[in-house]
Amino acid sequence: MHLFHYVGNALHCESVDLAAIARLHGTPTYVYSAASMEANYRRLATALPGLDVRVCYAMKANGSLAVARLFGNLGAGFDFVSGGEIRRAQAAGCDVTGSVFAGVGKTEAEVRHALEAGLYGFHVESEPELARLNHIAGLMGRKAPVAFRVNPDVDAGTHAKITTGRSENKFGVPLQFAEQAYEAASRFKHIEIRGVQIHIGSQITSVGPFAAAVEKVAPLAAQLRDRFGIQYFSLGGGVGVVYQEALASGAQAWWDARPVAERPLTPEAYGAAVAPVLRGLGLRILLEPGRFLVANAGVLLSRVEYLKRGHGRNFLIVDAGFNDLVRPAMYEAYHEIVPLARDASRPALTADIVGPICESGDTFAKERTLQQVGEGELLAFMSAGAYGFAMASRYNARPLAAEVMVRGTSFELVNARETYAQMFANEKLPSFL
Ligand code: LLP
Repeated sequence: MHLFHYVGNALHCESVDLAAIARLHGTPTYVYSAASMEANYRRLATALPGLDVRVCYAMKANGSLAVARLFGNLGAGFDFVSGGEIRRAQAAGCDVTGSVFAGVGKTEAEVRHALEAGLYGFHVESEPELARLNHIAGLMGRKAPVAFRVNPDVDAGTHAKITTGRSENKFGVPLQFAEQAYEAASRFKHIEIRGVQIHIGSQITSVGPFAAAVEKVAPLAAQLRDRFGIQYFSLGGGVGVVYQEALASGAQAWWDARPVAERPLTPEAYGAAVAPVLRGLGLRILLEPGRFLVANAGVLLSRVEYLKRGHGRNFLIVDAGFNDLVRPAMYEAYHEIVPLARDASRPALTADIVGPICESGDTFAKERTLQQVGEGELLAFMSAGAYGFAMASRYNARPLAAEVMVRGTSFELVNARETYAQMFANEKLPSFL
């Protein structure tokens, strides 16, 4: 769900004309719709009726302080993967005690910080990690609350770089060894067994893999509840979003026009597939969505620099590069690209849409057809709210983009464009030069 739409021929975010934001703050600029994020959160949080559900926002998708605060205000916990993310949520003034800490490589300093912050659960991926948690918790005179991430060996049918639930992936403890791992954990003095966790991948667009994973792990969850009194079962994240026709999918009419069997995965369908298996368990259910909450709630605004007419191929060169939005270069991901000023009277243009970075991989779309646009005109990359700014870099000495949040008729800069001075601030020349 999202609130990007044309008003007349001008693309708006909620009630704000995106061209006004580009004029004021320049490009490339990320724009987030607060109301879209809130609606997505509420919809997912209520999709498993009859269950005690806690949504832990997977901050890796978008770590902006403003976004963290928005979800914190709604009562969300967080799914952290680094000490930096915990500090971001704390800097945003969020309560992190309902949050969890995931990841295969938690460092000693991160574990210490997470224990001090009083997180709800550590999602443990290996026995050496458990030993480290036990050791540090002991030194601090505390108990570390843990859940093993169990790998159910389910194929999520998603891109190879973001599938995680297969046994050949680096994540989790194989299901057949889980019991043993929990028995071992129960012998550690400074460990409290609190839950069980799965996460099978990202951008999953059908319910089948979720239902299969939950069914496979539910018997273990029941056993752990009886044996160790665990409190929760975390289902991870992974609910996919619409990337093709992203703009149109914001309208109810788009969904209504599709046969039910062909509609993209909805929170309701997800809930209906997993809730019946979970109800008998009597456990709290944690969800760790990232993309679903924020992807379609954000766009990246960019300006056309040149239209270069090549031999049998046109190149639309824009001022955003893969340093700003890496998903197409990294995962062959599709992002819909639309003009901020729609003009049906113009002819169509078919072009490769590329950035300024000195690599052929800096290509957002090949042979994409859109209305004729030229120098100085503005484009929006749709569905850029997740893994957009969060994965940005300064490659080619390009400063990090600005970020703006919209609510209703207001918008505010929530992260100023990086200045060149900030870009070099930590560097120094060695004395021997
Ligand atoms: N929980 C765990 C343990 C995860 O590893 C992830 C994502 C999530 C939750 C959130 O998954 P989501 O709901 O966002 O699918 N950069 C890639 C996606 C990487 C996902 C990594 N793990 C992309 O741009 O598609």
